Amino acid sequence: MQVPFNDLKIQYAALKAEIHPALERVLESQSYILGPEVEAFEKAFAGYCGAKYAVGVNSGTMALQLALLALGVGPGDEVITVAQTFIATAEAISWAGATPVFIDVDPAVCTLDVSQIEAAITPKTRGILPVHLYGHPARMHEIKAIAAKRKLFVLEDAAQAHGARWQGNRVGSFGEAACFSFYPGKNLGAFGEGGAVVTNDETLALEIKKLRNHGGVVRYVHDRLGFNGRMEAIQGAVLGVKLKYLDGWNAKRREHAAYYHSQFEGLDLILPRETAGAESVYNSYVLRSKKRDALQRFLNDAGVQTMIYYPVKIHLLSFYKHLGYQPGDLPVTEELTETGLAIPVYPDMSFAQRAYVAGKVREFFGS
Ligand SMILES: Cc1ncc(COP(=O)(O)O)c(C=O)c1O
Repeated sequence: MQVPFNDLKIQYAALKAEIHPALERVLESQSYILGPEVEAFEKAFAGYCGAKYAVGVNSGTMALQLALLALGVGPGDEVITVAQTFIATAEAISWAGATPVFIDVDPAVCTLDVSQIEAAITPKTRGILPVHLYGHPARMHEIKAIAAKRKLFVLEDAAQAHGARWQGNRVGSFGEAACFSFYPGKNLGAFGEGGAVVTNDETLALEIKKLRNHGGVVRYVHDRLGFNGRMEAIQGAVLGVKLKYLDGWNAKRREHAAYYHSQFEGLDLILPRETAGAESVYNSYVLRSKKRDALQRFLNDAGVQTMIYYPVKIHLLSFYKHLGYQPGDLPVTEELTETGLAIPVYPDMSFAQRAYVAGKVREFFGS
């Protein structure tokens, strides 16, 4: 049997009858960038997250960059974040001219280790940028409490966590702002690149709208230095259709994860967990094993596609050498680059496929 890491064709086939008229609407309208489709999606997505505003942009990376700039981050500033993430999180801080200050992650759930924040704060710290990694929310109440006490902003990287909840509320509703990616493989994926910044702050939303459109909301009015970060109408239309199905897809991911948990109990593996108060949406289901590379080869030979999130130690990359991190500084992060393996958990995976994946993992461990 073959089990791909993801299969977007099944989702496309199921939604074809709804998506094609939406695409046709855009093509007939000749309004290809921003416009009513994007506005309608922004409204719906903000509501979904429990926030007032969403600003559609052309990637999750752009969302992070614009949010940081709108929050006033610049040269000389420090932003506390994690190295256990996709490079875009750190890149955005660096391109804003600021310095990423990396702290380690909680070994249980792989999100920012809250107990390390205070020690990382300096007079230059402007904010905290937690990542809801693999779909599991970071400990937002504790992060917000520290931020409030030390007068820092909180910017959520929710690129992998559309719909995840922390203590009952959806991610995106906690920080000064939150950034989402609609890269095709995400829980909510576009037909190309896409992203959004979600916020309750009207002024911040307006600044981000300006930043995405060359510094102004009116053509040829440039209030500040900006970018071309606009969302395409086609992506707005597709995302508008797909948003209605997001909760159902997330429920299926959670159901697959529960099945895996039940199958892997007792194996020599560290399994992904949910902390009290967290509802993960399992963008990835990441196993941890000292025999990771052999397990990956075994699964690959058996037709099961896997991924490593992430094989890179970001704090040790050549362009961050000047920051002075040494091997061993972030032990949990570094261990994860060597032991983590993501197995398929996409919503449309069949029961037979997931049983096959679980059976092969058990077989590898001689169970
Ligand atoms: C945690 C995280 N942050 C940021 C991004 C960047 O999003 P995009 O690929 O849409 O630029 C991604 C996705 O790739 C991500 O996983």
